[in-house]
Amino acid sequence: MLVHLIEERQSVIGDLETSIRAALADVTGAYSICVVSDLEPDVIYCAKTASPLIIGLGEKENFVASDIPAVMRYTRRVLVLEDGDFAKITAGCVQLSTLSGQKIEREVYPVTWDISTAEKGGYPHFMLKEIHEQPQTITDTLRGRITDDFKVTLPELRFQTSKLLSFNRITVVACGTAYHAGMVGKSFYEHLLRRPVDVQVASEFRYSDPLVDSKTLVIIISQSGETADTLAALREAKLKGATTLAIVNVVGSSIAREADEVLYTYAGPEICVASTKAYMTMLIVLYLFGLYIAQEENRMSADIVAAYIADLTEIPRKMAAYLKDTSALQELSYKLATTSSCFFFLGRGVDYAVSMEGALKMKEISYIHAEAYPAGELKHGPLALVEAGVTVICLATQSALYDKMLSNVKEVKAREGIAVAVVKENDAGLDDRTVDAVINTPATDHDVLMPLLSVVPLQLLAYYIASALGRDIDQPRNLAKSVTVE
Ligand code: AGP
Repeated sequence: MLVHLIEERQSVIGDLETSIRAALADVTGAYSICVVSDLEPDVIYCAKTASPLIIGLGEKENFVASDIPAVMRYTRRVLVLEDGDFAKITAGCVQLSTLSGQKIEREVYPVTWDISTAEKGGYPHFMLKEIHEQPQTITDTLRGRITDDFKVTLPELRFQTSKLLSFNRITVVACGTAYHAGMVGKSFYEHLLRRPVDVQVASEFRYSDPLVDSKTLVIIISQSGETADTLAALREAKLKGATTLAIVNVVGSSIAREADEVLYTYAGPEICVASTKAYMTMLIVLYLFGLYIAQEENRMSADIVAAYIADLTEIPRKMAAYLKDTSALQELSYKLATTSSCFFFLGRGVDYAVSMEGALKMKEISYIHAEAYPAGELKHGPLALVEAGVTVICLATQSALYDKMLSNVKEVKAREGIAVAVVKENDAGLDDRTVDAVINTPATDHDVLMPLLSVVPLQLLAYYIASALGRDIDQPRNLAKSVTVE
């Protein structure tokens, strides 16, 4: 499309560079492009907005790529283009300007890492890189799905609205982290849509003669889109006549191809076995889809939907600010790495769903036993295990349940367990007499959106502890990124 637009402009304007600029002035959305033409065979024109683009500076040669590692074999001097930058590149020269033609300069960035560190963007592990990419992946996943007046638009869905509203039941099916994302979706949908939602582990669903039919919407969630049990569950749901909607990260994967409808997450490639940014974008798509149904069935006023969306769009900024300095959490994690023999993660409501993900991250990469419990269940068994050396992470981000969580914290402290509370910033209800440590997270206006922010310190806690213990963080023992066998 864009090439045709450039060609069209060029047939009127004549000059290639001016034509490219004119074409780009008329397009919106994310792009990073290189234009080559037999009109100027020795020149590459490039430009970017939202998608990455770098220029490697060589001796009598220059390179264009989407990422630094691609050019590292040829040069260690790199220009990183910013949104709205335009470049004219020949073998001997790089000229930078704005899209409107104003000359600009960008600092030449000397690459000092080796290739493997470069692929990690300077981070010691892919996991840390991927945690830090989360604000951007949220922005990427929201892009094009929110209108200027804060409505949800999901142009990729082919459902008729009447069909969408005809389902009397929603079943979410997934494995591992994707299942935990589904648990957050359940809280949100039941709260927002007042519709029953059940969430099932795919390996159970496929053999359970599932109770789904043509009135059921089955939401299948998977980062890879190739997980064997999840794919089999999708096929089983289709056999039973259900309509299937896949929330998937890998474009063109089996699940994406076989589902009736697909909503992609835009997490980009996730390399670390432990999922972080894919989980984050699964949550974003789940929230968007829930808001879309609420909006289409006029369940709530446009103002209320808009308030949720405004809150969602604020998350990347808040998360990025939080990620700028995590030194206090790192210090706490290093202490816990030496003092904790096992972890419990407690929460109520949507905090419980996040606790499940926190516990999975901890056991997966630190190899320390970690278990999630609905906080009210503490007294019904697990409290017997709480003693010195047992760390209990208490999530208390839900205002309506805050006091209940405080009483759990006291139960832990009274048994000499290590009590760590995860609360919204500016929480004044806790001090070092009530808890051993407090982890603050940025706040949202709607408590039900808190998982987006409260999961980040849990990911980092697991990461720092695993790092202190010298674990193989990106490739934990016995685990594979994509589980394509039963
Ligand atoms: C997450 O950290 C795990 N690696 C694992 O639980 C994963 O979420 C699960 O295997 C599902 O994978 P999928 O999203 O690719 O289907």
